[in-house]
Amino acid sequence: MDLGITGRRALVCGASRGLGFACAAALAREGVDVTLVSRRHEALSDAAARLHRETGMSAHIVDADIATEAGREHALAACPAPDILITNAGGPPGMDFRTLRLEDWSAALSANFLSAVELIRLTVDDMAQRSFGRIINITSLTVRLPVQQLDLSNATRLALTGYVAGVARQVAPHNVTINNILPGTIATERIRELGATAEKLVAQVPMGRAGKPEEFGAVCAFLCSAHAAYMTGQNVLVDGGLCSFTV
Ligand SMILES: NC(=O)c1ccc[n+]([C@@H]2O[C@H](COP(=O)([O-])OP(=O)(O)OC[C@H]3O[C@@H](n4cnc5c(N)ncnc54)[C@H](OP(=O)(O)O)[C@@H]3O)[C@@H](O)[C@H]2O)c1
Repeated sequence: MDLGITGRRALVCGASRGLGFACAAALAREGVDVTLVSRRHEALSDAAARLHRETGMSAHIVDADIATEAGREHALAACPAPDILITNAGGPPGMDFRTLRLEDWSAALSANFLSAVELIRLTVDDMAQRSFGRIINITSLTVRLPVQQLDLSNATRLALTGYVAGVARQVAPHNVTINNILPGTIATERIRELGATAEKLVAQVPMGRAGKPEEFGAVCAFLCSAHAAYMTGQNVLVDGGLCSFTV
């Protein structure tokens, strides 16, 4: 299926590896001109080379910390008028809630909430003016299934979910959609870093396995497509059936 987004420009955050990279690769396969953002230049160069090997497409790279105002400005200077924005940053650490201090909350809010809020604010009106925009926030299954020790994620992802629920409806008349994709247990570095917490979750996945990053990327590309124009303000789980509302 032709997704109808050839030639569109995408700014993909947290894209040197994992889910961000998978989204960028899936978009590049559709002929989207992608700009990859992450903090480490070397990892980004490797990612761009990998993307070229796997898709035949060249990618722009920009090393920026999107948790900071300067980093967001730097990223947007490299891709000033994106048609597609993927917000994403590394997940917060797993910690006992009693040990969390204000600086831990501040870091998690900056990376996983305010970075997306600000990038949306800085791009959405231009998208509306051009009558096309697709914004995807990579959040987490913690929105539907709070996970012990991941209290920073449980709380900050829900804050973003609430924000998007309001804003998505305000820009809906302009063919600008904003959706969240909620990964469950997709085999990336992050999942390996979470160790036992992640292993416990994978053991409960009805499909009996962790997800593949490319399975996540394919969902992202579809939600960014011309065909997904009537979906907005949604929280789409990619979790192998892990989250359930029945007992
Ligand atoms: N994998 C899963 O199944 C799963 C499940 C639930 C939630 N999530 C969430 O989904 C997001 C992506 O997960 P992942 O598994 O792909 O993580 P990952 O493997 O740790 O990759 C994170 C990517 O983001 C970049 N990054 C981190 N902080 C950044 C910042 N401040 N500014 C710019 N780039 C930044 C990293 O590169 P640099 O280090 O070079 O910056 C890397 O490219 C995370 O928030 C994670 O918590 C993932």
